[in-house]
Amino acid sequence: MAETGGEGAQGGAYFHKERIKYSPEEEARLERQHFWRIIDAFRFYRVHVQEQVKRAERQFRSLPQHHQNLLPGVLSNLTRISQCADHNQEVLQAIIHNSLDMFENIGYGEREDPRKVRPSTTFDMDKLKSTIKQFVRDWSEVGQAERDSCYQPIIQEIQRLFPSDQYDVSKVSVLIPGAGLGRLAWEIARLGYICQGNEWSLFMLFSSNFVLNRCEKVNALTLYPWIHQFSNNKKSSDQIRPIRFPDVNPQSLPLTSDFSMVAGDFVEVYTDADSWDCVATCFFIDTAHNVIEYVETIWKILKPGGVWINLGPLLYHFENMANELSVELSYEDIRTAMVKFGFHIEVEKESMQTTYTENDRSMLRYVYDCVFFVARKPADVYFDCQEDDQQQSSPSAAKSPRREGTDSLT
Ligand SMILES: C[S@@+](CC[C@H](N)C(=O)[O-])C[C@H]1O[C@@H](n2cnc3c(N)ncnc32)[C@H](O)[C@@H]1O
Repeated sequence: MAETGGEGAQGGAYFHKERIKYSPEEEARLERQHFWRIIDAFRFYRVHVQEQVKRAERQFRSLPQHHQNLLPGVLSNLTRISQCADHNQEVLQAIIHNSLDMFENIGYGEREDPRKVRPSTTFDMDKLKSTIKQFVRDWSEVGQAERDSCYQPIIQEIQRLFPSDQYDVSKVSVLIPGAGLGRLAWEIARLGYICQGNEWSLFMLFSSNFVLNRCEKVNALTLYPWIHQFSNNKKSSDQIRPIRFPDVNPQSLPLTSDFSMVAGDFVEVYTDADSWDCVATCFFIDTAHNVIEYVETIWKILKPGGVWINLGPLLYHFENMANELSVELSYEDIRTAMVKFGFHIEVEKESMQTTYTENDRSMLRYVYDCVFFVARKPADVYFDCQEDDQQQSSPSAAKSPRREGTDSLT
């Protein structure tokens, strides 16, 4: 499955802080608590993996001796997994080392004893392992094919809609909600567009901050992303194969480029109307409690004439999560709501096959049959779906070319 953010769900209080209004002091306390919970998860990783390795070792040693004798490589492979976990831990330490003061405007205080490792939940460990795999997708050569299938259609569409021979692309603003480790946003900024990634998960934010701001040397760092997968390995060595990152120097953006990452919940952070020329969502819209809230936000923040480009499945993140609102709409229903808002769907492909943090040597591999669309907020009609039922049933009134209304361009 697409491992999405939502790290607050397990902690209960953190996610609900967005819905329930707390006093500023309580907000700050919850924020600090959450911050340290994620730091603790990074620190606990090695212990967690070693526990898994020890369990595997115990199970193996419980086999009859003559069975063990038939399998001479198993214990040495487990030792190697343990060493790979030690190595991953070093990278994770470097990530959190660079995270303690990454938010200029917020102080998180000090831990009483920073060396003390506190146990984390399985939920947080799963998030951390997903984050490690996200390095493959976003910043390794191995992830190139996956990036080609997920990011290239979006990038090509941006270049088609805002070609550099017709637009001053340095004035075209693109927002990427749910930016993960930031590669898509970075690639768009590299082409000269103003690009901002937005991300909510601290696992992702700590890691993107590290790779974007602290890693310069191409392929200088190593991770072992597959050591946590004990099933569906064809060869033992597949489990311990490394990936190198970053495959490009993240610092190599042109000096004139305008690239930023903003932390926070997409619907909370982006409230200014008519602000963006393009919003691009990749494997994002199914992270919503209520996907219509995302549609509404995108409708509002797009400039008249602006476009929403989307690629992804609908693997609703909060489905089956206790005490979490989750409305699992079909694409058909979302599309109907989009049209009622006034979006004009200009491009639509209902079957784009992609993968997500795929282990290409695994005996179990998922393929997502994604929906891809380009939807325009018309340039000359401001359409408010809440105001006029009459208008809702005649969205075609909203059709118009985008160029007229986009005077900040060219
Ligand atoms: C499945 S991942 C996709 C990441 C990236 N777009 C990609 O294609 O690799 C979804 C991302 O959205 C983030 N996310 C979930 N809810 C969010 C919200 N309300 N605001 C901002 N980001 C959010 C998650 O933390 C996660 O990094």
